[in-house]
Amino acid sequence: MPLNPNKKTRATELIVALDVPKGELALKLMKDCAGLPIIWKVGSELFLAEGPNWVRQRAAEGYRIFLDLKFHDIPNTVMKAALLAQEMGVEMFTLHLTGGPAMIRAVRDELEKISDEKGIKRAMILGVSVLTSFDQPSWDDVSFSVSGSPSKIEDSVKRLVTQARYWGVDGVVCSPHEIKTVKKADAILYTVVPGIRPKGAKAGDQARIMTPKQAATLGAGAVVVGRPITEAKNPRVMIERVLKELDTPIGMPVKES
Ligand code: C5P
Repeated sequence: MPLNPNKKTRATELIVALDVPKGELALKLMKDCAGLPIIWKVGSELFLAEGPNWVRQRAAEGYRIFLDLKFHDIPNTVMKAALLAQEMGVEMFTLHLTGGPAMIRAVRDELEKISDEKGIKRAMILGVSVLTSFDQPSWDDVSFSVSGSPSKIEDSVKRLVTQARYWGVDGVVCSPHEIKTVKKADAILYTVVPGIRPKGAKAGDQARIMTPKQAATLGAGAVVVGRPITEAKNPRVMIERVLKELDTPIGMPVKES
């Protein structure tokens, strides 16, 4: 099908969360969706069930992988882990922004050095600010314990994302309701947005949801959708529906290189 030259080519991307306990379940879904422009999110559950070789194999087969292990440790330890993630062939991975500038800078510098030396693509670094599972009272407990005074979630997110790119990340994970705050703090940051529900899908434990189209309209770089796809009778049909909402030409790769 010829592409409409007037259509935007850089659409909001779709990340599908592979929140399943077994590699074979994940692989079936990935194979059923062959040819669709998807980034597959591997979290702690699948990673611990199947290990790095499973991820390495999928990346070698050409699947685009987002490794969501949310690293947070001393700089040297996170730098070594991030390097292994990049060498596995993952396209993007997460770390906690509260790990601070020394941790993030160590990761960024080493990934750049090694990707230049080996001629491989540098993995994208995504920062997690305040997890969307926090409500204000529980964030009050944490922020008070850390700093001696409670902080509003929105203020903490704003302060962290304002620093994020200077510290070395390429993008941040944020709730759809934080996209505006993030864009205001730094218009260039790539945003990865969970808490997405296609019209009519069950919210489950996600409290503040938006549709794919609403998040795309606000400028989300990518939306993350899990259960509405993994629990659908026909996941491929559901994915095609979401891609249509995101205005992604089906079958076309949409990532800028
Ligand atoms: O099934 P559902 O669409 O709610 O899955 C969303 C995915 O995004 C899950 O893998 C969840 O861990 C992840 N996530 C999230 N909220 C965050 C960060 C990650 O829902 N703040």
